[in-house]
Amino acid sequence: MAYNKKNDDWKKKFLNNLLVGDSAELLKEIPDNSIHMVITSPPYFQQRDYGVEGAIGNERTVEEYIDNLMKIFHECVRIIRPDGHIVFNLGDKYKNGSLLLVPWRFALEALKREPIRLINAVTWVKLNPTPRQHKKRLVNATEPFFIFVKSDNYYFDPDAFMSLHSLLKGKKNHNNRSKIGQRYFELIEKSNLTPEQKSRAKRELEKVIKEVKEGKIAGFRMKIRGIHALPFGGQEGGRKIQLEKQGFTIIRILGRDLKKDVIESPVETIKGAKHPAIFPEFVVGELIKLLCPPKGIVLDPFVGSGTTAVVAKKLGRHYIGIDINPEYIKYAKKRVSDTVTLLEYIL
Ligand SMILES: C[S@@+](CC[C@H](N)C(=O)[O-])C[C@H]1O[C@@H](n2cnc3c(N)ncnc32)[C@H](O)[C@@H]1O
Repeated sequence: MAYNKKNDDWKKKFLNNLLVGDSAELLKEIPDNSIHMVITSPPYFQQRDYGVEGAIGNERTVEEYIDNLMKIFHECVRIIRPDGHIVFNLGDKYKNGSLLLVPWRFALEALKREPIRLINAVTWVKLNPTPRQHKKRLVNATEPFFIFVKSDNYYFDPDAFMSLHSLLKGKKNHNNRSKIGQRYFELIEKSNLTPEQKSRAKRELEKVIKEVKEGKIAGFRMKIRGIHALPFGGQEGGRKIQLEKQGFTIIRILGRDLKKDVIESPVETIKGAKHPAIFPEFVVGELIKLLCPPKGIVLDPFVGSGTTAVVAKKLGRHYIGIDINPEYIKYAKKRVSDTVTLLEYIL
């Protein structure tokens, strides 16, 4: 289908709307390069029957299941902008006592078939997993969220990701600021540095402690010759030369916190929910803040109870949701209309 880029008619049908239909068909009506972010959780392989003709999930083999998913994934790749992302969350399945590695098979197939890259496989750690304890297996408490991009020029806002978490951590460090770096003064004294090297090390240490106290940097590490191990890898570069020649080296930590590919969050349960497999709002929200600019468009081709749309609306992003089951769309519409955009995204 040929699209006229200037023709925004599709938006009238899709933008800030939740539609009933098969995503493999409906997505074809959306022009190339027009969506900022797709985030979704497709039906897991042979997990439950969504009771609607054409629904994905109950194929006889993993291969068939992945083939069907790929039809929708292909459309997702086409409709995201060059600076956009596709985030897919999948769960695994045991067959004859062995994990099938469904999420990873899907990711491999996606990389094989589409001109995309996998920039992260974020692990969602479920704080309250289903307590289905098998005698000889640990409880499964993690699921991947794969982040795919189609160019190097993708939107990425790490400061917005897990920012509350960083703030709380920063506060904790704040309490100990009077003690920051003090143990290094003792280690410098104990070391076999020359008196000149010791006094230079102390001067540099005072300087970096001041930078932390003034909030210019988040923290630092110091390595002192004879006390700490040489930097791993043994390259004849910067830090190794500094350790040998001046007797110490200081590593400044610029960010407040390392942004790691792990998110801890409970499994979502909504009282009276009309859907059996609801996305955790917290995880979706953190990924939207990381990957979609304010006022951008977030699309979920398996929107179910509408979680993606609810979170996008709260965070001041436009949403599009599709689900094959009309009952779920009815429930999702109610959830979304009960949702208000957070004040900070309106102002
Ligand atoms: C795991 S659920 C998604 C749950 C959702 N993330 C939420 O928070 O409620 C998968 C959904 O995909 C829908 N579905 C299955 N096949 C579909 C298709 N071909 N097109 C659109 N939706 C489909 C099912 O009806 C189901 O609601």
